[in-house]
Amino acid sequence: ETLDVRGLHVLPGAIDCHVHFRDPGYPHKEDFGTGTAAAAYGGVTTVFDMPNTIPPVGTKEVLAEKHKLAGEAAHVDYGLYGLLGEDTIANVPDLIAGGVIGFKLYMGNTFGKIPSPTTGAMLEAFEVVAPTGKRISLHAETNSIMERRETRLRDFGRIDPLAHLAARPAVVAVEAVSRAAILSEWTGARIHILHISSAAELRPLREAKARGVEITGETCPQYLFLSADDYAEQAGRIRVNPPVREKHNQEPLWAAIADGTIDLIATDHAPHSTEEKTRKDIWTVDCGFPGVETQMPMMLSEVKAGRMSICDYVRLSAFNPARVWGLYPRKGSLTPGSDADIAVVDLDHEWTIEDDKLHSRSKTTPWNGRKTTGLPVHTLVRGRFVMKDRKLIADARGWGQSVHSIQTMPVPSPKNTDQTMVAILQEPKT
Ligand code: NCD
Ligand code: ZN
Ligand code: ZN
Repeated sequence: ETLDVRGLHVLPGAIDCHVHFRDPGYPHKEDFGTGTAAAAYGGVTTVFDMPNTIPPVGTKEVLAEKHKLAGEAAHVDYGLYGLLGEDTIANVPDLIAGGVIGFKLYMGNTFGKIPSPTTGAMLEAFEVVAPTGKRISLHAETNSIMERRETRLRDFGRIDPLAHLAARPAVVAVEAVSRAAILSEWTGARIHILHISSAAELRPLREAKARGVEITGETCPQYLFLSADDYAEQAGRIRVNPPVREKHNQEPLWAAIADGTIDLIATDHAPHSTEEKTRKDIWTVDCGFPGVETQMPMMLSEVKAGRMSICDYVRLSAFNPARVWGLYPRKGSLTPGSDADIAVVDLDHEWTIEDDKLHSRSKTTPWNGRKTTGLPVHTLVRGRFVMKDRKLIADARGWGQSVHSIQTMPVPSPKNTDQTMVAILQEPKT
């Protein structure tokens, strides 16, 4: 089969390393079938799914069940995160044997009420994961600061949208990023800071990188394009963890993308039902919104507008995620002879994002009505069309495979060792 791509651009498919496909547990929000269909429409050829499903992915049994669901329904390739919590530290070897792309550790409140480990348990968790080479991705918000702030505001009866923003000052994230970086420095565990939302978090990230800590960072379209100014019109629609912040944060985030402090773009695709997103009381609105399908058109629009080159975009959307999770260079071993994960895009195609057009089960996006320029026309996963001429290939359902088997993660060494700590760890158990 030949394909006429005159006038189009052939890009590496995007790797969205932060999605919540809700499977199993919340079929009214999303499942692997609908989530990966949305990915295919968005030019995304690999997704990494978060572990806050029901039950959370903290044991080999739960992981095996999720692999089964994903394997049956996925249109694109995927990695599955294992949960690194206080009571799953002992399960790390089992989870690795069962096939995880990395670990997720929640330092702060999230959807699904996952408890956050104490700093002591975090240190232990980092020590256990470090020698495996796997990366630990962090929801870096400090629970104890966050909860105290929000309880106080609720007690005052302040339930307007801006109160929600004010309840979560950036220090909640800055403290968490700094603490995670120090634990990484002392253990050698590779870490990744998810959903960077504020300018202030860039300082501990830059400083850690300068010290040689194996730390990477992502931001998401919501923090680049939305700000507190949008609460008045969008209210609960843009309620997300971490919250979108005052407008002055946007330019430093764009600058951090340009200078490499932020390594990549992910979406934190967090689908909820329309009812769950439009409740009157903003404190009861579920946090997050879909994004896997709209990232590429939105970012390609910035390429068109001259904010970044197409090569810069590919570095953020595909090359860096592949490098950070050891998927590069790679795919031949999954399907010999066909390693092409490709998004064929029309850089001039004008498109308006609309809630009802989304292929996610979630139909409430802050981008409703937004005009974009640049759209994926065809998506190929391992050489096979999964989306062609803006239509999903129906029998591509089940074509998606887990990419954990091709991952290579050499073991890093700690950047700062404390000899007593090393001795304690090496002490044989009697
Ligand atoms: C995510 C979800 O709904 O699972 N929500 C969100 O607001 N980002 C959880 C998360 O990323 O913390
Ligand atoms: Zn999170
Ligand atoms: Zn998330």
